[in-house]
Amino acid sequence: MVNKPDPPPAADPPLASASPSPPTSFDASRSRQEVGPRSHQHSSLHHEPTTAPPSAIAPPDEEPRLDPSDGFDSAGVEEQVVPDSDSLADFDDFRDYDSALGDEDDLSSTQSIMSSIMRFREENGRTYNGYGNRTYVLPNDEPEMDRLDFQHHLLGLTFDHKLTVCPIGRVHRVLDVGTGTGIWAMDFAEEHPETTVIGIDVSPIQPSFVPPNCIFEIDDLEKPWNFTYKFDFIHSRMMTGSFQDWPRFVQQCYENLEPGGHIEMIDVSFPNRSDDHTLPPDSALQKWGNYMLEASINLGCPLNTAETYRGLLHDQGFVDIEEKVYKWPQNRWPADKKHKEIGLWTMENFTSNLSGLSVALFTRGLGWSTTDLEVFLVDVRREMKSMKIHSYWPIYVVYAQKPIN
Ligand SMILES: C[S@@+](CC[C@H](N)C(=O)[O-])C[C@H]1O[C@@H](n2cnc3c(N)ncnc32)[C@H](O)[C@@H]1O
Repeated sequence: MVNKPDPPPAADPPLASASPSPPTSFDASRSRQEVGPRSHQHSSLHHEPTTAPPSAIAPPDEEPRLDPSDGFDSAGVEEQVVPDSDSLADFDDFRDYDSALGDEDDLSSTQSIMSSIMRFREENGRTYNGYGNRTYVLPNDEPEMDRLDFQHHLLGLTFDHKLTVCPIGRVHRVLDVGTGTGIWAMDFAEEHPETTVIGIDVSPIQPSFVPPNCIFEIDDLEKPWNFTYKFDFIHSRMMTGSFQDWPRFVQQCYENLEPGGHIEMIDVSFPNRSDDHTLPPDSALQKWGNYMLEASINLGCPLNTAETYRGLLHDQGFVDIEEKVYKWPQNRWPADKKHKEIGLWTMENFTSNLSGLSVALFTRGLGWSTTDLEVFLVDVRREMKSMKIHSYWPIYVVYAQKPIN
């Protein structure tokens, strides 16, 4: 594990003791350290399992530095195939998994599939998924994986340590959309041993040591879904910015749920805001939020889709729709203990990998150079830590049910 958040400031010992220390908090992170090569199934959804194991490249020891000479141009983007021992082990796993590929005659096509599985894209010193949705703007490297596990803990604090806000009851099959490091899927599978949880992502960044009722598949969920079964619950968390066509996504969820099944969509919405005018429009922090949104709109993957989920679910025919909006204070500025703690983790969530969150959006979506971005982020980081600015991020939770009849 790398790039651990700094321990909470010594100036605030009561809060520090209230927070579990990050290195021991995340099961999936430990799994990433403990287990060997990843083993993935390839979804039956599509026929072109071309994935990019980030394990195939040496992960950086800290948040990778951007190459200041690179903007988003052909010089800044590389597509690579790196066959190291880890990825070759994945190759063996894949052959074992699909017995139909076992014949000699099929070996070359298997190799061709596997070479695309090993493809990843390197851009400005970060790695991105090389398969499926190539417009996705967050990296898939170690610092981003750490941030996702960190964010899982922050969401746990937000929802009083519940894995769902939606009252789902007993469920048989669960789909975790864009599962990331798989941390939610694994926790849910452990909590519900009677349930099969399928986590799907375009990036193979999930551990192989998982509960027996948890399966990870690599696929692009923007493509048509061809599941041969239906789900009782679909969980979609922090997927804003991932899909271009949200009505289509909601439609596919509807079609792939059992009657009476539930969907829960959880997302942050950009930009950040404040209720007491302590976030001036010309502050670096407010500009950062606005630039991120502007860039995402330019790229066709807006970072404010959470505000549309309720309407989309309604238009699709879902019933019993509930929307709750939580707040993530930017830092420890709130007076009450719970929000102070959430703020502490929010600050680390954003500042620990701020370059990773920003670089694809700013370079691809706004045409900034990485040098200008890094200079700008110095002020953003400083303001993110300022307790004079009472900024927060709205976190939307929208859930609904497919009609029983
Ligand atoms: C911000 S992460 C959230 C991860 C996870 N849901 C969580 O809450 O920890 C978004 C994830 O969606 C995945 N993703 C983006 N576009 C996707 C697509 N079209 N199909 C499947 N996964 C996708 C990304 O690879 C990334 O792991």
